[in-house]
Amino acid sequence: MATSSTGLTGLSAYIKQSPPLDFSIPFEDTWVKDRTIVVTGGASGFGAGFVRRWATNGAVVVIGDVNVEKGDALAKAIRKETGRESAAHFVHCDVTDWQSQVNLFKEAVRLSPHGGIDTVVANAGIQAKDRLQEPGDLSAAEPQSPNFATMDVNVTGVLYTTHLAYYWLPKNPGSKPCNMNSVPDKQRRDRSLILLGSVASLAPIAAAPLYGTSKHAVLGLFRSLRATSHMEGIRVNIVLPYFIDTAIVPPVAKLLLAGGAMGKVEDVVEAATRLVADTRIVGRGIVVGPKVTVKQDDTGEFKLVTKGTEGSTETALWEPYADDWEEVDAFGRRVVKILNAVEQARGWYGWITDVVKLAGHRLFGVGGGS
Ligand SMILES: NC(=O)c1ccc[n+]([C@@H]2O[C@H](COP(=O)([O-])OP(=O)(O)OC[C@H]3O[C@@H](n4cnc5c(N)ncnc54)[C@H](O)[C@@H]3O)[C@@H](O)[C@H]2O)c1
Repeated sequence: MATSSTGLTGLSAYIKQSPPLDFSIPFEDTWVKDRTIVVTGGASGFGAGFVRRWATNGAVVVIGDVNVEKGDALAKAIRKETGRESAAHFVHCDVTDWQSQVNLFKEAVRLSPHGGIDTVVANAGIQAKDRLQEPGDLSAAEPQSPNFATMDVNVTGVLYTTHLAYYWLPKNPGSKPCNMNSVPDKQRRDRSLILLGSVASLAPIAAAPLYGTSKHAVLGLFRSLRATSHMEGIRVNIVLPYFIDTAIVPPVAKLLLAGGAMGKVEDVVEAATRLVADTRIVGRGIVVGPKVTVKQDDTGEFKLVTKGTEGSTETALWEPYADDWEEVDAFGRRVVKILNAVEQARGWYGWITDVVKLAGHRLFGVGGGS
């Protein structure tokens, strides 16, 4: 079994994700200084929180959003507050439009003092009216086509952002492929992608199947990308917030949640800042919920306790995938290894047989297969 320099053993060492997060390890906000960061949907909610915190700490932040009024006002306010002309910029961008995103990235490179992009945050998201299970008038000759705006923004938009990140991040001048042994305060240049999932990535969300589907897709994207982070050299991490009071949560949901606990924007910003700032973190996820005081019992279960209880901790942040990459993703890798071994065992004979079969199928339509 291989052992990596971080002490990870077995397949974990091959997968090369950083170890489970330890939230007690401090990070410095100033580690984001001089980084050029693109935030889609940065005009309000979490995005605005990210932009303000990172720009205040010396980053150059480029906001891409459809909301021109809010985005422009935010960038202007931050430039004034920080006294830095390069602190924040606004670029109109509709993430569902490929060319609009291409323009955002090109503009970010143009505005970047070092001519590159260090971090991309695929944050833009919506929750449009979700009527998937309501076909409407059942006596109509045929149903109306459903509204998939949520999928367009939360899935297609995020995939466009990801594709562009994989084009621009490796070209970032002075950056190196990600390395979980890096010294974060010394590493000015980075190659990092942050995805915005949700607790709806992990659990079903009643009455909003499209939103749930879209956020499950974002989680699937994260889990797939992180498996090859060490090949492309791009750090991919995800933030998975619970309900947090922003414009995206419809009033009816706020009403249903009344009396329960909601998370806070500042905790989402804290989670994302750790992932952006600390260049050692590769392939990790953080769930953000309401701040609670908990204590672990002998079985490892967390119990809610009153503040100040001995041995308790107060936290809003949890890591849902602490060990799964050893148990699940490593399993996937084992299967791939076995498939590779099968290919090797079949050798040239196997390859030629398959190619001949394929050619026969293409030319004469013979041979089985699905
Ligand atoms: N607030 C929550 O409870 C919560 C929970 C989990 C995940 N999230 C996710 O966090 C992300 C940010 O949400 P938020 O809560 O800050 O919501 P928000 O509505 O405050 O912010 C979303 C931003 O995205 C922008 N946007 C919408 N469509 C766009 C498009 N086509 N192109 C570019 N920009 C567009 C909006 O103008 C807005 O500025 C979303 O991906 C959301 O799904 C939110």
